[in-house]
Amino acid sequence: MSIQELATVILAAGKGTRMKSDCPKVLHPLVGKPLAAYPVRLAQELGCSPTVMVVGHQVERVQQQFADEDIVFVHQEQQLGTGHAFQISHQVLKDFSGTVLLLCGDVPLLRCQTIDEMLQAHASAGAAVSVLTANMEDPRGYGRIVRSGAEIEHIVEEKDASAEEKKITEINTGIYALEVPLAFELLGQLSNDNAQGEYYLTDIIALARTQGYKVVASTLDDVSEAMGINDRVQLAQAAAIMRERINYAHMVAGVTLIDPATTYIDDSVKIGVDTVIYPGAHLRGNTTIGSNCVVETGVVIDSCSIGNDSYIKAGSALEEADLGEHSTIGPMAHLRPGTVLCGNNKIGNFVETKKAVIGERSQASHLTYIGDAELGRDVNLGCGTITCNYDGVNKHKTVIEDGVFVGSDTQFIAPVTIGRNSLIGAGSTITKDVPADALALSRSEQKVIAGWCKRKK
Ligand code: UD1
Ligand code: CA
Repeated sequence: MSIQELATVILAAGKGTRMKSDCPKVLHPLVGKPLAAYPVRLAQELGCSPTVMVVGHQVERVQQQFADEDIVFVHQEQQLGTGHAFQISHQVLKDFSGTVLLLCGDVPLLRCQTIDEMLQAHASAGAAVSVLTANMEDPRGYGRIVRSGAEIEHIVEEKDASAEEKKITEINTGIYALEVPLAFELLGQLSNDNAQGEYYLTDIIALARTQGYKVVASTLDDVSEAMGINDRVQLAQAAAIMRERINYAHMVAGVTLIDPATTYIDDSVKIGVDTVIYPGAHLRGNTTIGSNCVVETGVVIDSCSIGNDSYIKAGSALEEADLGEHSTIGPMAHLRPGTVLCGNNKIGNFVETKKAVIGERSQASHLTYIGDAELGRDVNLGCGTITCNYDGVNKHKTVIEDGVFVGSDTQFIAPVTIGRNSLIGAGSTITKDVPADALALSRSEQKVIAGWCKRKK
């Protein structure tokens, strides 16, 4: 792409009335990211500078969401229409000369290549304005492209369209390439004499054409890219399309998805070959899963790193945990932030871990809580081991060195350190440090009263 100067304006000021929500439309999440993050990423991929976002409804919330991005915000105080919204961006672009790519905050499925092709057609035609169009089976709700012969003549909004015009299936995607400053000059001539009393950006097509400027309508191939999100039905439909793309890419790259339609993977997730993902798994955020792993049904993994050959059994929840190779987790285990498994570990059913570093080959197979702890290698925690890490005010640490064997139903009252190769008898409450190679035991001796039950009856 050899366009010299390319800026982007993203329209995101509308309330999104049809969402019926307190949350601005462009912040509604689609597969783990707010709607408007998609055009923002597109602008980044295309190397646009500057990226201008027109905000209006709940400005603070929208700006805060994108505070870390290289975006210039402009405030459209009253939402007087898409033409007015673009006009507002003049504040930032008054010294800019070149092509402006106009994107909508509510059109998330566009591919970079599609826009690239439109920009190339725009440049090679020497167009003043180009619009991206699509042929839709059901064009309801969209502006229609009225052509005269092969050339675009104007765009008519559904609410202003005649019965004849409503039959047109070629629609306006709301995406344009505009030569600036010319486009701003044309915008000055917009009127709001239409069904909605708004300044329509769509009218720029007829304005440019009647004044002798070149106008191009590029039609995209994959209609699904054109989808605009106006209500929650379309939000769910777009999410399904986005997931289909993500899941397709994983399968082609060597990951088995037993049922891709019910597998929920954010596009930031990386998965190695020969890993098998069962239905109903949710893989979110900055998660990396190695090769040859299994993730069973109902598992939620958020921002974790999982080593090769690991097996995550049904119903487990993992968050900000780092798992070495050959980890076996669950079913129904809960790995919370700060969990680090060094490799060949087993964390079994109903085990919860938090801020816990667990050495190689160490295991906790049943009903256990490990929090604020450091375990060495080859440690075996019996069923029902609990680190009592919190005294109601502060958190304290439990250290269990290499080779320790902990009998079932043991509590460690932190801070406490258990020396290497020692053994803790079942049912103990450990309040003091235990030296290496020792046996520690804290339980009252068993009493047996012969014949007691018989006498009771
Ligand atoms: C618009 C187009 C329509 C097209 C459709 C594609 C116009 C007049 N109509 O209709 O031809 O088929 O998109 O999805 O352009 N916005 C502002 N400020 C405003 C008004 C809107 O920033 O004053 C933003 C909205 O937040 C949204 C985008 O512009 O991101 C589109 O606005 P919306 O009201 O959804 O337009 P549509 O009715 O969908
Ligand atoms: Ca829309």
